[in-house]
Amino acid sequence: MSSLSTTSTHDHASSVHLGYDPEEHPREVSRHYISASDDDLASMLNKVGLGSLQDLFSHLPKPQLFDGDLSLPEELSYKDAAEHLHQISRKTNLHSSFIGDLLPVWKVHPIVEQVSQLRPLSTSYTPYQPERSQGTLVTHWIYQCVLSALTGFEAINTSLYDRSAALFEAICCARRSRKRSGPVLLAQSLFNEDISFLNTHARGTDLEFEMAPLNPSSGRLDYAKIENLLTNQNTNISALVFPQVNALGILEEVDRLVDLARKWSIPSIAVIDPMLLATGGLKPPSEFGSHGADFIAGEAQHLAIPPSFGGPGLGLFGSRYHEEAKKDLRNTPGRYIGKAKDSQDRDCFVMVLSTREQHIRKEKATSNVCSNQAFLATVAGANLLAKGENGLKHGLSQALSSRKQASQWIGQREGIELAFPNSPAFNDLLLSVNQDPDTLIRRARECGIHMGVDVSSRIPQSDKNLIKLSFSDAQGEEEMAALKKFIFDFFPASSCTQDEIETPSHLLRSDPTNLPGFSHDELLNYYEQLANLNISPDDGCYPLGSCTMKYNPLLNDWAAGLAGFAQAHPQAPEEDVQGPLEVLYEIQEWFKSITGLAGVTTQPVAGAQGELVGLKLFQAYHHSRGEGHRNIVLIPKSAHGTNFATAATAGYGSGIVYLQANEKGMIDLADFRQKIEEHGSNLCGIMITNPNTSGIFETDFSIIAEEVHQAGGMVYMDGANMNAIAGIVDLSKLGVDAVHNNLHKTWTIPHGGGGPGDAIVAVSEPLVSFLPGRQIRKEEDGFFRSFVPENSIGTFHRNWGNFGHKVRAYSYLLRLGKKGVPRMSSVAVLSSRYLFEVLRFHYPTLPGQAGEIARMHEFILTLSDQDFERLEKAGVPKSQAIPQVGKLFLDFGFHAPTVAFPEVFGLMIEPTESYTKAELDRFAHAVIAIKDLVETFPQVVASAPHFTPIDRVDEVAANRNLCLSEKLSHLPSLPVNRIQPSVLLGLEIEEVKKRILQIHDLSE
Ligand SMILES: Cc1ncc(COP(=O)(O)O)c(C=O)c1O
Repeated sequence: MSSLSTTSTHDHASSVHLGYDPEEHPREVSRHYISASDDDLASMLNKVGLGSLQDLFSHLPKPQLFDGDLSLPEELSYKDAAEHLHQISRKTNLHSSFIGDLLPVWKVHPIVEQVSQLRPLSTSYTPYQPERSQGTLVTHWIYQCVLSALTGFEAINTSLYDRSAALFEAICCARRSRKRSGPVLLAQSLFNEDISFLNTHARGTDLEFEMAPLNPSSGRLDYAKIENLLTNQNTNISALVFPQVNALGILEEVDRLVDLARKWSIPSIAVIDPMLLATGGLKPPSEFGSHGADFIAGEAQHLAIPPSFGGPGLGLFGSRYHEEAKKDLRNTPGRYIGKAKDSQDRDCFVMVLSTREQHIRKEKATSNVCSNQAFLATVAGANLLAKGENGLKHGLSQALSSRKQASQWIGQREGIELAFPNSPAFNDLLLSVNQDPDTLIRRARECGIHMGVDVSSRIPQSDKNLIKLSFSDAQGEEEMAALKKFIFDFFPASSCTQDEIETPSHLLRSDPTNLPGFSHDELLNYYEQLANLNISPDDGCYPLGSCTMKYNPLLNDWAAGLAGFAQAHPQAPEEDVQGPLEVLYEIQEWFKSITGLAGVTTQPVAGAQGELVGLKLFQAYHHSRGEGHRNIVLIPKSAHGTNFATAATAGYGSGIVYLQANEKGMIDLADFRQKIEEHGSNLCGIMITNPNTSGIFETDFSIIAEEVHQAGGMVYMDGANMNAIAGIVDLSKLGVDAVHNNLHKTWTIPHGGGGPGDAIVAVSEPLVSFLPGRQIRKEEDGFFRSFVPENSIGTFHRNWGNFGHKVRAYSYLLRLGKKGVPRMSSVAVLSSRYLFEVLRFHYPTLPGQAGEIARMHEFILTLSDQDFERLEKAGVPKSQAIPQVGKLFLDFGFHAPTVAFPEVFGLMIEPTESYTKAELDRFAHAVIAIKDLVETFPQVVASAPHFTPIDRVDEVAANRNLCLSEKLSHLPSLPVNRIQPSVLLGLEIEEVKKRILQIHDLSE
């Protein structure tokens, strides 16, 4: 435990408690989190024949470079950064809260914090290499099983961004699967924020909505009117969407709604809260009506982490998968984990159903989602297992008993009453008050209570003053006493009491979930073993090209966990969340400076969602100019799958035009010009990754941008590779109109085994007034206030996006300062250029004719024709050669490079700036040893990897015999590392090679 004693910026001294000693982590305390010494840098520069870091960018057009410092502050020392973060977090006022509403708050078991500190789980990549990712895969399997037990649904994916996103995907899935194209019937009792998200996404597509009306005298849907509507339109409606607990906190008649939809063969989508489905809770959606709902969408963040100012969300999506209901699964979005066997018949897990996903199907994919909320799914599983059947049941009963108490107090007072005592409710309390709810909420705040939410506008046809309070296990005696005092102080005693109906049994769960129970120690030990099956960028080069697997500072996670950030509720009054708003404001301003662009939205929670924001902005902009006909999007063939899938999601599915690359791997200008000629008058825009997916800077970018602008189109830059140019290239001078910055790449956010990600989008001046969500301005007195831009396209997140990740990026940028950002990119490029210089004499490189063109932060290696032949003879077909060579990297303790993207026969390597020259040299040594093995002993490639806990996985069988969940009665048994990754990383490369050969009874 380390405590940094500092003098605070306030007038009293304070100390921050980090919970770790940064000095014990050399990467943590190195300047700008760059481990290489000055001597290392000089020696690497010497090797690549350059005199300075600036020379790395001498091939880029000069006018496109920043010519001065970024307007970021100077870098802070570790101690000062920690103190600064602590001080900002203390600007949050945390009151006794009954808000819940858009983001329910429940107690989180201490195991969540402990699992979050298991770095091989929290910092590892998406488990595309199952032999080295069983840790992550098992945690996601647990999530799928536990959520299946709660909901009764057999197929739960490993997460979407949040409830709104899950709902949107569920709607698209239902329509696709059932081949229906009419309007979707949306319950008016859904949250407005979800409806607004859906409207934002539907604009410009063929998705239309009709509203199923609310009955103002019951606070529930008007079932008779819905029945009439369906009777009149039954052939047309493509899905029915309704909540189990509605936005007023009242329970809907779920059986009736599902049966009604079924009567007209309309797929039903139930919006649920999984926490409320535990034993003692509400009826699981698999039991709604005679056959259960068809799909579920819900929010599950509160199953995993504290409110964290509303983000990122954990989108729960489920479909049925049993003998009579199988066909929907192939149309679902997102990632799934299935049971599998390795080549030695060991039980294991693997990602399945990927042929639906964007990286394979491009614009034909079922969704554009790539990074999801993987790590939240990991900790949600741990939290639910740690609480177990009894803990969850106890939590619900505490919530219900608190609600009952409050309801009784209210029943004895004058001027405050239950709004609909004859409508069933669960853990929410909807109150009607005899005064302005806003004033009452403000008064409660003065008494230290965030009383609830003014929901009067949720029943437009009524003039009742409505306040909704939400109860959970997070409110203890103290909070309840404060609430009671407030009610008793502000409302006089009444002579009559009010009765409320009991929640009818047909709305409640009848059978227990039978979740298993484990002791805290047993579970923690299990998750520690899981972590041991993964590897982390902490330990050494994690060379996944395009993914930027760099070191993720501990300081960032510490900061995101500070109470003033982690416990802040997104619907708390702005006066009480000035700390979080300050962080968002600073980030907003800093990213304007980093990109050189005029506006920023901090809402999107992944790169793919950032791309969608960009295209939706283009769409709105063209419409505003009466040019809504522009429907063509140009995308280079080598682009990431999300680019194509995003264009399809935005409504441009039939307008995608592929651009060819020239022999040097850059956009072919002649081909581009021909396509502009052909499509210019209908051009919506272009999406370009820069540096491109081959690690080469598109030096014609500004020419292309200018010609796109001349044709009336807009320019989207996929900023996944910003790690090469941040602080170096001014995107406004490149001609960029919108760009996303994946925080989980360049800006040191941990990958979490596949997410959550985050993607700040910056835009050019013409798009600023269209930005989604809320912007933040700093008023003269220093107060941070939010506002909606004038022509806003709507919303992509019902709260503030992934706020915790903004804190992490903010913490990182405090340590980098204005000098550190360009230095970080420079060292990332130098590390890559250095490795390229060493390895290009051992491997052919791609693109074939790119030769010695200066690579940026990553590069692509391949094998020679003779190597492919050798491997073929040894039993490895050419189509499998590159993925199999990738598996040999695992034997040396590394993760595999990115295989077969963007070049089918490529190994894409991105070292990042996080490693010393000695570490890069050892990695290079391993890559050369791998080439030696391919040349001399190609037979060892066929059976790679050799030292991981499992051998190659039979993915074909796993996909054929899909098993996506089972009843968890015990923790899945775990394979063991044949050699620990830490041991592998400590061995001489020749020793590893020798051990591989020994397995095959071979020697050099
Ligand atoms: C070039 C590129 N574009 C887009 C994406 C999608 O980003 P995200 O996974 O954050 O949605 C990625 C992710 O790897 C990428 O490498």
